[in-house]
Amino acid sequence: MSTSTRYQLRKNPQLGSGATIDPPGEAVARFHRMLPGYEHTPLVDLTSVASDLGLGGIAVKVESNRLHLPSFKMLGASWATFRALVEHTGMAAEGWDTLGEFAEELKAHGPLSLAAATDGNHGRAVARMARLLGLDTRIWVPYDMAQSRIDAIESEGAEVIVIDGYYDDAIEESAAAASDNTLVISDTSWDGYEDVPGWVIDGYSTIFAEVDTQLVSQNLDAPTHVITPMGVGALGAATVVHYDARDPRPTIIGVEPSEAACVQAALDVGKVITIESEFRTSMVGLNCGTASLIAFPALAHGLDWTIAIDDDWAERAMRIYADQGLVSGESGAATMGGLLALTDGPDRTKLGFDDNAEVLLIITEGATDPHNYERIVGRSPSEVAE
Ligand SMILES: Cc1ncc(COP(=O)(O)O)c(C=O)c1O
Repeated sequence: MSTSTRYQLRKNPQLGSGATIDPPGEAVARFHRMLPGYEHTPLVDLTSVASDLGLGGIAVKVESNRLHLPSFKMLGASWATFRALVEHTGMAAEGWDTLGEFAEELKAHGPLSLAAATDGNHGRAVARMARLLGLDTRIWVPYDMAQSRIDAIESEGAEVIVIDGYYDDAIEESAAAASDNTLVISDTSWDGYEDVPGWVIDGYSTIFAEVDTQLVSQNLDAPTHVITPMGVGALGAATVVHYDARDPRPTIIGVEPSEAACVQAALDVGKVITIESEFRTSMVGLNCGTASLIAFPALAHGLDWTIAIDDDWAERAMRIYADQGLVSGESGAATMGGLLALTDGPDRTKLGFDDNAEVLLIITEGATDPHNYERIVGRSPSEVAE
């Protein structure tokens, strides 16, 4: 295998340790239904790709247009922002018919603003939520963020602060903005900052609740394998929370870029650590050096395997999706990239990837960097989606 198509598969040495997070109640789904444009995102049955890979089936949950934004992130950012505002103001957590009604009453609590750090999608989602609520936002981003992603955040009315550092540095700078009237809405967690990122994890539960309904309505089999992408591990934790108690329980596999395998590194030593890396990956949504403190126990408890992949796997996956008429960005294609790596060689038997395997993947974003998308796929996102 060439060095440009490398991957690192590890069995989770912490499996079964600690405890997962309690599943959130119905309130999350009720809240999401109140948001403008809420509907189920598609669950697509990829029969021909499954048969090419010698698998029983592949279902992919497509989050490239969620609540009118090109990634899944609004699910976590919206619920976390709402809960943070409820805590801060003492407003009611239940009983709202529309978000507009909540926004109207929020005005009485004085000018409030939001702050967040992002490698793209979370920041845009926080900025959108702020816009829907009539709040100002500042979003901190790493030095190398693509202009298209900065423009997208600014288009929500947010102020974008480009820092001279990586994503982890952006987190630190945004955290320092916390004040009596500025709420930090981070999707990652550190010592003493756990509530908001916990609500972000809860917010992602809607993805899997929808999948459950869709598997039944589309007459598809329950997954034997669930592959989830990991940046700081919040979505990975939500995946574990949903599937860990299932009987039969699917094998849960987390995918990271080789350049930013902070969850794999943390599982190796049994605690969250900050990795050393150049952080050069096109999967920028997954380009994180430190796992979320609050997500880690759930990941340690319930991920069966982790795989760190080189960009090439995700780029191949983008082209496979494009052939199926599906547009996925680089991070969005990581789960298919992981599946391609795992089914390519001897690891396929070890993980049970055979013609009985029913694999659930998530496309977590659309073409959030259209220029890079066209370079990789050879067609523009609109040509693919035609
Ligand atoms: C497109 C995309 N996929 C997956 C993830 C991973 O989510 P998490 O950071 O919760 O692990 C992110 C995070 O930014 C993302 O933007």
